[in-house]
Amino acid sequence: MKKSKATKAIAMSAMVALALAAFVSAAYAAKANTKFHTKSLHKTGAGLKHWYDAAGGLKSLTKAEYDTLGCKSCHTATCKACHVTSMKAADTRDPKTCLGCHQSIAATFDLSKAAGKLDVHEGKMICNDCHIGEAFDDIHGNEGSFNTKSDAGAIKASCLNCHKEDQEIKAHKVHKGKLACQSCHVEASISMFDGKFADFAKSGYKGVFTPKMDWTMLINADGKITTGRVKTIKLDGGKTFVSVEPYYTHNVTKKALNCSACHGSANMVAVKDGKKIAVASAKGVIPFDPAVLDFGADTVVQVIGGGTALDAKQMTKMKMTIKDQ
Ligand code: HEC
Ligand code: HEC
Ligand code: HEC
Ligand code: HEC
Ligand code: HEC
Ligand code: HEC
Ligand code: HEC
Repeated sequence: MKKSKATKAIAMSAMVALALAAFVSAAYAAKANTKFHTKSLHKTGAGLKHWYDAAGGLKSLTKAEYDTLGCKSCHTATCKACHVTSMKAADTRDPKTCLGCHQSIAATFDLSKAAGKLDVHEGKMICNDCHIGEAFDDIHGNEGSFNTKSDAGAIKASCLNCHKEDQEIKAHKVHKGKLACQSCHVEASISMFDGKFADFAKSGYKGVFTPKMDWTMLINADGKITTGRVKTIKLDGGKTFVSVEPYYTHNVTKKALNCSACHGSANMVAVKDGKKIAVASAKGVIPFDPAVLDFGADTVVQVIGGGTALDAKQMTKMKMTIKDQ
C-alpha cells in the first residue's frame, strides 16, 4: 500500500520533471548550434584518442597510429548522423539512429529483453527524454571541452534529475550516499569479450564481440562506488587487451539487488578463501580489485574513465554476511 503510493509519487514527480525537461529543452534547442557541437565528444571523438594513446593504452600493443584506424566511423559524428533528414528535433527521436553507433546499448536491450529484464524506462521513454534539459549537453556539447566522457560535467544525465533516494528504504539509508544508484538498480553490466582488433577497427562491436550480461563489477569513480564493465580485444600474436571502465548499463530492473548479492556473496566467499575470480566466466557482482581477479593469460589491463579498485575497508564490508531484507 505504502509502496504503491511512493511509486505513484515518484512517477508523478518524474512526469513533472519530464514536462520541465521539455521546456528547458526548448530553451536549449534555441541555443543549439554548430559552436557547441564542435566541442562535443560526438564531434571530436576525443575519448577514443585519449585512452588509445595513453601510457599503457591499446596503441602500446597495436603500434598503429590513431589516424590510421577505422574507429572514426563512429567516433566523429556529423550533424547528419543524428539529424537524418533535417535539423528538426523530431528527426532525432528514433532511438535506432543512436543505436546504430551505440551498439553496446543495442546489445543491452536485446539481451535484457530476452531475459525478461528490459530497463523499466524502455518503451516509455527514449534516449532524448533523459539526455535532455541540461543533459542535452550530453548530445550537443556545451562551452566545455572534454577529453573523455568521464570528465566532470561531460555527462549531465542523472537518476536524481527525476528521482529521490527515498530514505525510508533501508538499502538507501544504510549506505549514506556512498553507492551510486546503478550499483543496486542495475543487475548486470554489458561487457564485450574477445573482439579481434582488426575487425573492431573496421566494423565496431556487432558480430565482432561476444556481449555478456550476467555480471556486473563494482568500481570506485567520482568519489562513489558504481558499476563497471570490461572490453577484451584480441591482438595478432596472442595477447589480449582488456579495458576496465566505470559504466552505466541502461537496464534498471524493477527490483533492486538485495543485500546478499554483494555482502557475503559466493564471489566474496571465494575471495575470503583466497581464490581468484575468473572475469570471463564470473556471474553476479564482482569487486574491481586486481588482486582478486583473474583476467586470463597474456593480458594487458588498462583502467579507463578514472576508475580505481575497491580499497581494503570496502572489501572488508563486502565480505561481511548480511541477511536479505
Ligand atoms: C555516429 C555515431 C553516433 C551516433 C549517431 C550517436 N552517438 Fe552518442 N556517442 C558516440 C560515440 C563514439 C561516443 C563516445 C565519444 C567519445 O568519448 O569519444 C558517444 C557518446 C555519447 C554520450 C556520452 C558522452 C557525452 O558527451 O556525454 C551520450 C550520452 C550519447 N552519446 C548519447 C547519444 C544519443 C542520445 C544519440 C542519438 C540522438 C547518439 N548518442 C547518437 C557515437 C554516436
Ligand atoms: C549525436 C546526435 C546529434 C548530432 C551529431 C547533432 N544533433 Fe542536433 N539535436 C540532437 C537532438 C537529440 C536534438 C533535440 C531532440 C529533442 O528535443 O528531442 C537536437 C536538436 C537540434 C536543434 C533544435 C531543433 C528544434 O527543432 O528545436 C538544432 C537546430 C540542431 N540540433 C542542430 C544541429 C547541428 C547544426 C548539428 C551539427 C553541427 C547537430 N545538430 C548535430 C542530436 C544531434
Ligand atoms: C531513463 C533515462 C535514460 C534513458 C531513456 C537513456 N539514458 Fe543514457 N544515461 C542515463 C543516465 C542517468 C546516465 C548517466 C549515468 C551515470 O553516469 O551515473 C546515462 C548515461 C549514458 C551514456 C554514458 C554511459 C557511461 O557510463 O559511459 C551513454 C553513452 C548514454 N547514456 C546513451 C544513451 C542512449 C543512446 C540512449 C537511448 C538508446 C539512452 N542513453 C537512454 C539515462 C538515460
Ligand atoms: C527523465 C526522468 C528519469 C530519469 C533520468 C530516470 N528515471 Fe527512473 N523512472 C522515470 C519514470 C517516469 C518512471 C516510471 C515509468 C513507468 O513505469 O511508467 C521511472 C521508473 C523507475 C523505477 C521503477 C519504480 C517502481 O517502483 O516501479 C526505478 C527503480 C527507477 N526508475 C530507477 C531509476 C534509476 C536508478 C535511474 C538512473 C540510472 C533513473 N531511474 C533515471 C523517470 C526517470
Ligand atoms: C544499496 C542498494 C541501493 C542503492 C545504492 C540505491 N537503491 Fe534505490 N532501492 C533499493 C531497494 C532495495 C529498493 C526497494 C525496492 C526494490 O527492491 O526495488 C529501492 C527502491 C528504489 C525506488 C523505487 C521505490 C521508491 O519508493 O522510491 C527508486 C525510484 C529508487 N530506489 C531510486 C534510487 C536512486 C535515485 C538511487 C541513487 C541516488 C538509489 N535508488 C540507490 C536499493 C538501492
Ligand atoms: C560502432 C561504433 C563504434 C566503433 C566502430 C568504435 N567505437 Fe568506441 N565507442 C562507441 C560508443 C557509442 C562509445 C561510448 C558509449 C558506450 O561505450 O556505450 C565508445 C566509447 C569508446 C571509448 C571510451 C571513450 C571515453 O570517452 O571514455 C574508447 C576508448 C573507445 N570507444 C575506443 C574505440 C576504438 C579503439 C575503436 C576502434 C578500434 C572504437 N572505439 C570503435 C562506438 C564505437
Ligand atoms: C550492490 C552491492 C551492495 C548491496 C546490494 C548492498 N550493499 Fe551494503 N555495502 C556495499 C559496499 C560496497 C559497501 C562499502 C561502502 C563504503 O563504505 O564505502 C557497503 C556497506 C554497507 C554497510 C556498512 C556501512 C558503513 O558506513 O560502514 C552496511 C551496514 C551495509 N552495507 C548494509 C547493507 C544492507 C542491509 C543491504 C541490503 C538492504 C546492503 N548493504 C546492500 C555494497 C552493497
